Amino acid sequence: MYEIIQVVETDSTNTLAKQYGFQGALHGTAVIAQNQTSGRGRLGKTWQSVEGKGLYCSVVLRPQIERDDFAKITLVAGLVVAEVIEKMTDLPVLLKWPNDIYINSKKCAGILCEASMGNGLVGDFIVVGIGVNLTLTPSDFGIELRNSSTSLLIEKSVNYSAIEIFEKIHTLLLRQIAEVETFGFPHIFQGWRERDMLVGKVARWVSVDGREVEGQALGINDEGMLFVRDTYGKLHEVLSGDVQLIETL
Ligand code: BTN
Repeated sequence: MYEIIQVVETDSTNTLAKQYGFQGALHGTAVIAQNQTSGRGRLGKTWQSVEGKGLYCSVVLRPQIERDDFAKITLVAGLVVAEVIEKMTDLPVLLKWPNDIYINSKKCAGILCEASMGNGLVGDFIVVGIGVNLTLTPSDFGIELRNSSTSLLIEKSVNYSAIEIFEKIHTLLLRQIAEVETFGFPHIFQGWRERDMLVGKVARWVSVDGREVEGQALGINDEGMLFVRDTYGKLHEVLSGDVQLIETL
């Protein structure tokens, strides 16, 4: 049976969960911290962690799926977190590709998935890191995040408990992974499309060759990749990177 490991403080729950993963931690093992001293976001960014005011957790997964499909787990996790938050708050929750969670056009949660190759003793695994802003107030956010980030307290005026939201996310995540192992990803992508906040909007992103490109977001395809049409009508697959919403068409 997997373990749920609770710590007061760590540098990053993803780093700690990865260590457990390399020691052979079972599918479903999770680490939760009250605080992170070096919380990590995507693309080398930091994830602002304020002690006791957010959910900072990472789950070790060993899904029985093709290695090529590991990247799709990030969309599964995003959808799970969005569904749990929506059910708890009764507020509409949207997703920004690949894994940002938004309420009222502001980011309230983010996901950092990191895949590790097995080392001979243990097989491949994925660490799904989840950060949810629970009781942060505007002054808790750095000046650069204040206009673009929010918390469940700000949006709903309720103090949600980290452990309660963790349990719901953990349960649903494991259930959805089991579904994906049996039925593949179509139902996940369908749920994802229903919450896609970029589709139809004008977005800006950095292309693989480092150029800034603008275009209309067309949504995700059956591989979970985001497609956009640039201003010349050319179709692009967005491989990774940050996509920014510019305006509503
Ligand atoms: C992002 O939006 O860029 C992803 C943020 C992910 C943050 C979580 S907090 C728990 C886990 N540990 C980390 O260091 N990062 C993730």
